[in-house]
Amino acid sequence: MKNNTIILKSRPVRMPDFSNFEFIEEPMPQHGIGEVLLKTVYVSVDPYLRGKMSGTKAPRFELNKPIASRIIAEVIKSDNKKFLEGDFVSGYLEWKEYQVSNGTEIQKVSAETAPLSAYLGVLGITGLSAYFALSDIGKPKLGETLVVSAAAGAVGSIAGQIGKIMGCRVIGIVGTDEKAELIKTKFGFDAAINYKTRPDIKTAVEEICPGGVDIYFDNVGGVISDGVIANINKYGRIPVCGSISNYNDIEEQTSPSLLPVVVYKFLSIQGFLISDLAERFPEGISQLAFWLKEGKLRYSETIVEGFDKLPGAFIGLLQGKNIGKMIVKI
Ligand SMILES: NC(=O)c1ccc[n+]([C@@H]2O[C@H](COP(=O)([O-])OP(=O)(O)OC[C@H]3O[C@@H](n4cnc5c(N)ncnc54)[C@H](OP(=O)(O)O)[C@@H]3O)[C@@H](O)[C@H]2O)c1
Repeated sequence: MKNNTIILKSRPVRMPDFSNFEFIEEPMPQHGIGEVLLKTVYVSVDPYLRGKMSGTKAPRFELNKPIASRIIAEVIKSDNKKFLEGDFVSGYLEWKEYQVSNGTEIQKVSAETAPLSAYLGVLGITGLSAYFALSDIGKPKLGETLVVSAAAGAVGSIAGQIGKIMGCRVIGIVGTDEKAELIKTKFGFDAAINYKTRPDIKTAVEEICPGGVDIYFDNVGGVISDGVIANINKYGRIPVCGSISNYNDIEEQTSPSLLPVVVYKFLSIQGFLISDLAERFPEGISQLAFWLKEGKLRYSETIVEGFDKLPGAFIGLLQGKNIGKMIVKI
């Protein structure tokens, strides 16, 4: 029996394409003393992988080596006392159908708390990013106005709902009418802007938020963010979660033109990396799981089936083909 693996064949220039990936067959791995043999079940595809592929985000992926991301896997053989055959685990693992782990970098997950795929989304990195960035940096207060970009995505859909739980009026910016409808009907956003049919974001936000914007949860950067920030109120807070609109750029973007408004409106703009908050994950997961159980938080997933669909799912994510968390089921 052979093991399928996906390696990085070439570094993408602008939008990645299928030539950047290569499928190879390897011999089936054998687990040794203290190790487990894992079978991949769900693979998370995420925007940050783009930076690791081109080398702008460290540590970068090496050419001709497997790509890696967060994965849910089943333990199918175990020589490690912490893991039994049939356990499910989450870990930062390679894009392989089977792999061996010594158990130090994987954590058990339980299908009793939530469906396994949820550990890659609402109870995983994207849910935690929404929760910590909005509460710690956005500091929402009752009655404030929150704008979220990439609002139908994995982070954005959760950030918007947490804003509602915390008493804000929430407006989402998305790339299709279907997403605009969904964030209002399923996720409870008060209003939505489709940036593709309403490219003048400054005016669109001005119309929907006549009292201005208190918090801008930024997932996209670029001209969308310029248009929102043009409407920001004094003492506004901007958690900068990501800037997906720039990930395929060749030149790094800088925006010193924004600095005067930071001064005269006393703005707080703060970036963060969720990996920095690992010690607080149990706190975040327990809060998110509580809201899920209470029915206060809902989530969507776009689940693509098949190991061979991984590159296409990743490219599709950068093209906005997902609603909620983009996941590949193996
Ligand atoms: N700081 C951290 O630790 C951390 C952790 C997780 C994620 N992030 C960041 O958070 C952001 C969202 O990540 P996610 O995993 O939740 O992805 P996602 O929002 O589920 O998927 C990406 C979405 O971005 C939108 N998009 C793509 N290209 C765009 C463009 N040029 N302009 C505007 N929107 C565009 C698309 O939606 P539309 O159809 O609406 O355009 C797409 O569905 C990303 O920037 C990511 O890097 C940061």
